Amino acid sequence: MMPVRRDVHPHLPPDRICDWHERGRHVTHYINALSIFFPAGERFFMDSVRNYRDRITDPQLKQAVAGFIGQEAMHTREHILYNRLLDEAGLPASKLDSVVAKLLNLLRKILPKSWQLAHTIALEHYTAMLAGGMLADPRHMGDSEPGYRQVWTWHALEETEHKAVAFDVWNAVMKPGPYRYLLRAFTMLTTTVTFWAMVFVFHIRLVMADRHCPNKLLGFGRVLNFLWGSPGVLRRMIPEWLDYFRPGFHPWDEDNRAELARIAPLVAEIEETAIRAGASTRAPSIRGVSAGV
Ligand SMILES: [Fe+2]
Ligand SMILES: [Fe+2]
Repeated sequence: MMPVRRDVHPHLPPDRICDWHERGRHVTHYINALSIFFPAGERFFMDSVRNYRDRITDPQLKQAVAGFIGQEAMHTREHILYNRLLDEAGLPASKLDSVVAKLLNLLRKILPKSWQLAHTIALEHYTAMLAGGMLADPRHMGDSEPGYRQVWTWHALEETEHKAVAFDVWNAVMKPGPYRYLLRAFTMLTTTVTFWAMVFVFHIRLVMADRHCPNKLLGFGRVLNFLWGSPGVLRRMIPEWLDYFRPGFHPWDEDNRAELARIAPLVAEIEETAIRAGASTRAPSIRGVSAGV
């Protein structure tokens, strides 16, 4: 599986940022909360893989790393633009983004590089699980606003395409043995607690800040149903989460590569939707965001 960088720019209608999901504002904000993690998170992923770039000798893996960095750079750019729409709607996206950035900068300072990479492979497993679940069941996006559905589907497909890259770097640079296994398993446990606690808080912050969100408390029932009932995003993730603790685990043990056939038609659909809306198919350049090449 060789990931390639695709310079796509889905058109997101700004007036739908708080209400683009077919299940309403609470579910919309749950997924919006995930978007807030990406710009700082994916920079951290790129850096922790870059730290080991020089130690990779296998030409295939070197090429995969370049593709991984290229894809994450494009995701970073599109989620910065996405999160700006949240700010413009009066929601505290930049404030929450700076919380994530500060936490990850702290990890960069205090953790050894191997521990940083361990966090990256745990979080990449999370993105792969979320992406795989979303791609496997059309009810996750349903009949949501096309541009938002497209940005999440494109991201999910590329997360699937590169799901093993950071893990293969980990296996290539870390000495096999109990330390490698324990560090990987331990980091998954700590990451699980911190990540979901932050998603929970961010979600509540977005819902509370949305002045047009009705039934603030009752709406959380819809999110619970989305996550644990039907389609049950988190419920369905449990077996794959547990699988990570198997000593011989590899991301492609869950073989969903057939989904990747959807990438080319989706890229064409993204362009078409933007053109039909009279929007640009090219992203504006953003200061401080690398092109990932
Ligand atoms: Fe990504
Ligand atoms: Fe990723």
